[in-house]
Amino acid sequence: MDNKAVARELVRRALERQSVRSTDQAEAPMPLPVSAYLDPYRYRHEIDRIFKRLPLALALSIEIKEPGSFRTMEILGVPVLITRADDGKARAFINTCRHRGAPVCEEKHGKSDRFVCRYHAWSYDHCGKLVGMYGQSTFGDIDRSAFGLTPLPCAERCGLVWVGLRPDVQFDIDEWLGDFAEQLNSLKLTEWYIYTQRELEGPGWKVAWDGYLESYHHNTLHANTVGKFTIGNLMLHDTYGPHQRITFGRKSLMDIMGKPESEWGDPEEHVRLIHSGFPNLSISGILGDHALVSQVFPTDRPDRTITRQTVLAAREPKTDAEKAATEGFSQVTLTAVKDEDYEIGLKIQKGLESGGNREFVFGRNEPALQHYHKWVARLSAVD
Ligand code: FES
Ligand SMILES: [Fe+2]
Repeated sequence: MDNKAVARELVRRALERQSVRSTDQAEAPMPLPVSAYLDPYRYRHEIDRIFKRLPLALALSIEIKEPGSFRTMEILGVPVLITRADDGKARAFINTCRHRGAPVCEEKHGKSDRFVCRYHAWSYDHCGKLVGMYGQSTFGDIDRSAFGLTPLPCAERCGLVWVGLRPDVQFDIDEWLGDFAEQLNSLKLTEWYIYTQRELEGPGWKVAWDGYLESYHHNTLHANTVGKFTIGNLMLHDTYGPHQRITFGRKSLMDIMGKPESEWGDPEEHVRLIHSGFPNLSISGILGDHALVSQVFPTDRPDRTITRQTVLAAREPKTDAEKAATEGFSQVTLTAVKDEDYEIGLKIQKGLESGGNREFVFGRNEPALQHYHKWVARLSAVD
């Protein structure tokens, strides 16, 4: 099905729900003990089982578009170097020199021929091969091929570079994505233009992430930002293994309610999709020509995360009108997340230890949250 046909079907479903002021719902409300957010032992266990074992979408393919380009980051204490070599392939390595461990690349992103360690100038190519040693003879008869950068498991699919944070853990990306790959492919992520990228500090992983999975708060918390465009507490919910697609209805749905389909205009104008890749990737198209990619990363502090926000535009904004529209989208998403979602999230985080709640409750109207927390439990239980 092409995107328009998918949107048309979603508009039908959304109208059906909205006509009776309903939404897709779980079978029953679901309680979750607050210890799921607070227990430090559980936190470490889940980080180990989930974030350090599953493929994480660490970069967009378009962040390392050209051969020779690279991207570095530190995720949960692991320094990561992602490269695209001349063969066009994306690879990931631990960003530590095999001599005595200094980083081999200290820039966040760019393009280069080689990575030269600043300490003693060992140099590596984009395939991780050790290609240069200063004073090699003083190391005797050394086998250079045994001193390449340590690779991390890495696969490129659907316009994203998926990386595992431990060299000894392997994954099958096609099996992991399953039929969610088709959903991600529909976004054509390789065709967008990166307008801006920024990092935001937010509350702990689960408090931060909960806000990405429901529309219940949109007309209340986001009344003056993203909630202006969408109908609060209306959400369509589709799942693909642990991954999810959430559909919000735009307010324009109210204008076509009861009208024949021939008068709907472009069905994509009436819904907004959020693709939620387990455990920490969210791609939301809040307004037509723009999208927001959010990657929420836990940190060494259980009560804090770093979110990388990437604002995408369908094309590089050139005219004043295009520039204003893209900047407007960028600002509204920044405000909604930083000053609204994370502002209240940090207060929730602070109140967790107060004893005010022994458990939280997810309503029937919060099926994506229920789905997510069930998968956290399921995957952290797997040996
Ligand atoms: S630590 Fe990199 S060359 Fe010595
Ligand atoms: Fe929000």
